[in-house]
Amino acid sequence: MNNIHGIILAAGKGSRMHSSKPKVLHKIAHLTLLEHVLAQAKQTCQHIHVVYGHGAEQVKKSLDDDKLNWVLQKQQLGTGHAVEQAMPDIDDQSISVILYGDVPLIQKQTLAKLVDESVKTGFALITVKLDNPSGYGRIIRNAENQITAIVEHKDANEEQLKVSEVNTGIMAINTALLKKYLSQLDSNNSQGELYLTDTIEMAVSDGVDVSSVEAENEFEVAGVNDKKQLAELERIMQKNMADKMMAEGLTIKDPNRFDCRGELSFGQDCEVDINVIIEGEVTLGNEVSIGPNCYIKNSTIGEGVQILPNSVIEGALIDDGATIGPFARVRPEAKIGKGAKIGNFVEVKKSTIGAGSKVSHLSYVGDTTMGDNVNIGAGVITCNYDGVNKHQTEIGDDVFVGSDTQLIAPVNVGDGANIGAGSTITKDVPENQLTLSRAKQTTLKNWKRPVKK
Ligand code: UD1
Ligand code: CA
Repeated sequence: MNNIHGIILAAGKGSRMHSSKPKVLHKIAHLTLLEHVLAQAKQTCQHIHVVYGHGAEQVKKSLDDDKLNWVLQKQQLGTGHAVEQAMPDIDDQSISVILYGDVPLIQKQTLAKLVDESVKTGFALITVKLDNPSGYGRIIRNAENQITAIVEHKDANEEQLKVSEVNTGIMAINTALLKKYLSQLDSNNSQGELYLTDTIEMAVSDGVDVSSVEAENEFEVAGVNDKKQLAELERIMQKNMADKMMAEGLTIKDPNRFDCRGELSFGQDCEVDINVIIEGEVTLGNEVSIGPNCYIKNSTIGEGVQILPNSVIEGALIDDGATIGPFARVRPEAKIGKGAKIGNFVEVKKSTIGAGSKVSHLSYVGDTTMGDNVNIGAGVITCNYDGVNKHQTEIGDDVFVGSDTQLIAPVNVGDGANIGAGSTITKDVPENQLTLSRAKQTTLKNWKRPVKK
């Protein structure tokens, strides 16, 4: 069937989140709750309608997708009312799939099953059996096990409260039928709302065989109402991703302490130690090891690279066999060459470090092009900023820069140059010679330490 409309209810405020952000804009991994639902819905539904209300502008702005149909629900008068708002935009000869912006982890396979079922019967629900069904609408079945109604928790009697099978709220319905039932809803219930769930009883008395599909996983139908549930679903999502990556061969020391907020691709024999956070798009070659407490964002890491503990890498390209850290910060547009070494407390920004070059301790390298086999001593700083503009530092091959040197950019250092420790380099440095700038050391022979009066 190719006339399937997804209707995502996202008008609620989410008071229990205690946030100025509308509920559906909170994130799991790198996507908002709404984006999660959308990503799955799009794979089953050809048309998507988002019913929005609270935080209208924020919600609309959060998605840059001109194919979405935005449906404003000015007042939240219940789930039935919410769905009704989208009806004028949907033709009768179609299936309407009702989804929720705050039930983020529904999977496309389950949705596909639901749609198939609704094509057969006209009306299908996703239900789930819960150990603690409190708060949910209960699925009421007759002696023949046919669904006859959904009774909301607040409207249920003692017998009905014992039912463990609950309504997830996700359903697929022949749109012509849905329109007919929605027009007959009333708010004669404890919450004074137009309940979408009341359409089920109407369908049953209309002779429709309301069918059900069970969600494969409980997490698929779990809603987010507060920060605790948000964190629970975050962990489930992370666990699922970690399981998938481990199945593909990634070694993860502890999947409970692994966070991927984007896309991680990896070669063979890569290892990820605890508390690593991956953001954006990160690619690892073969045999990469990432030590504990590293943060890596939008970077490409070559074969055999070792990232030692507590390193932060963003927007960088790290070539094969390089070593980074511990405690290194590699910033955007850094290119670290083959076998190069960026050591502890070293910051590299918008710079190219040639193959085999070493910046081992306590340095800042910014706006620099560095050749191969350079050795940068401890505490060397490229002074790239004059307070107004940024300037370049060019360092040739086989250069040795002594510790605690400042290179005042713009400046060039020729191939094979040696710079004495403690120099302040303000002019270009010639090739293959020793250059240094420091006051001559003197000793005052008759000097005496002052004594206290
Ligand atoms: C609903 C179902 C209940 C089911 C439960 C599963 C109804 C009447 N009840 O109850 O059977 O067990 O979901 O979680 O459908 N919304 C709008 N506009 C509105 C009202 C709601 O967009 O006018 C959105 C909310 O933002 C929320 C979702 O619809 O995301 C569910 O609404 P809510 O009122 O929370 O329904 P529940 O009481 O959870
Ligand atoms: Ca709810």
